[in-house]
This record gives sequence, C-alpha cells and structure tokens, in this order.
Amino acid sequence: MYDSWEELRLNCLECKKCGLCEKRNNIVFGCGNMKAEVMFIGEGPGEKEDLLAEPFVGRSGKLLDSMLSEIDLYRNKNIYIANIVKCRPPENRDPLPEEQDSCIDWLRNQVALIKPKIIVAVGRIAAMKIIDPSIKITKQHGFFYKKKKIWMMPTIHPASLLRNPAQKPMVEEDFQNLKQKILEICTHTYIN
Ligand code: URA
Repeated sequence: MYDSWEELRLNCLECKKCGLCEKRNNIVFGCGNMKAEVMFIGEGPGEKEDLLAEPFVGRSGKLLDSMLSEIDLYRNKNIYIANIVKCRPPENRDPLPEEQDSCIDWLRNQVALIKPKIIVAVGRIAAMKIIDPSIKITKQHGFFYKKKKIWMMPTIHPASLLRNPAQKPMVEEDFQNLKQKILEICTHTYIN
C-alpha cells in the first residue's frame, strides 16, 4: 500500500501485472476529487477511455455524467471515478477474473486513500467484484449494502441503458436513493 497519491499513481502507470498491459494506449487510473465522500467504480476502460486516459468518457460516460448532474454530482467537483481494471480489455470484453485479481490492489489503495463513505458499483462486473460475487444486479440495484463501514450501492451500467432505454427510470430511482443516502451521511458532498 502506498501512502501518497503520487507514489500510487506513478507505480500504477508502470503496471505489467497482467496481459492487458500489452495492448493498452494508456492506463486509466481514475479521476475526480481525491477527498470525495462518494466513489463510482465501473468495470474497465473502453476504446475512448484507453485513448484519453480517463474513465467514462465515451457514450456511456456521457450518459452517466448527465444522470449524475441530475443529483448534483460532478466528476470534477464532488465524486471520484475509477474502474476495477485500469487497462482496456480487447474488443470491450468483460475483464477476466485473473485480470480483475491482478488489478484490484490499485483500486484498494485508491479506496484506502480516499476513504469514501459511499461506493456506487456501476454495472454487474463491478458489483460482483466489490459487493457480492452472487449479486443479481437486476434485482438488487438501488439497494445499499454496508461492507467494512462503507455503504455500497450497485446500479445498472449506462452501456446497458443505451441498449435498453426502458431501464432509465430504474437508474434514476437508484440515483435518488443515492442522493438521500448522501444527504443522510455525507458532510461536504453537497456543500459547494
Ligand atoms: N465502462 C466502464 O465500466 N468504465 C469506463 O471507464 C468506461 C466504460
């Protein structure tokens, strides 16, 4: 575990712990407020993220940003966004269990430095990895689970919403639940 962001970042940017390092253009470390009380964790970078070195900047990222803004959350202000794996899996396939296992310590270290009160797992892969391997996202999205003093909420991935827009009201409801939880337990997320 690194105590400083700079050390963590520099070491992560050199990572060769799994085969995904071979084809990457960039490591997508994470972005946002390092003092955020709320963290969003997706599964892994896609094509655009790999090119721009920032999470959720493609079509699904735009949708995520717009839904976040509805509850006054912004990546450059009051949240931090990262992924389970930091390098793009080829053809946007799901990251393999061994790739997730190789990468997870970077995320653990980010969580240890940020100390969020709430983590939102964006999509099935992230929810299975950080909340419960047997989670059923279609049934359990929008509910909070407390793990190691952190409230965790799974939600449906915005890429899934792009394929199936009928799911959008469900995610809007998840985000309203999130807003309520923030109002209950966070002290500075909604203060300028
Ligand atoms: N999907 C994810 O899960 N993460 C990203 O960064 C982009 C798309």
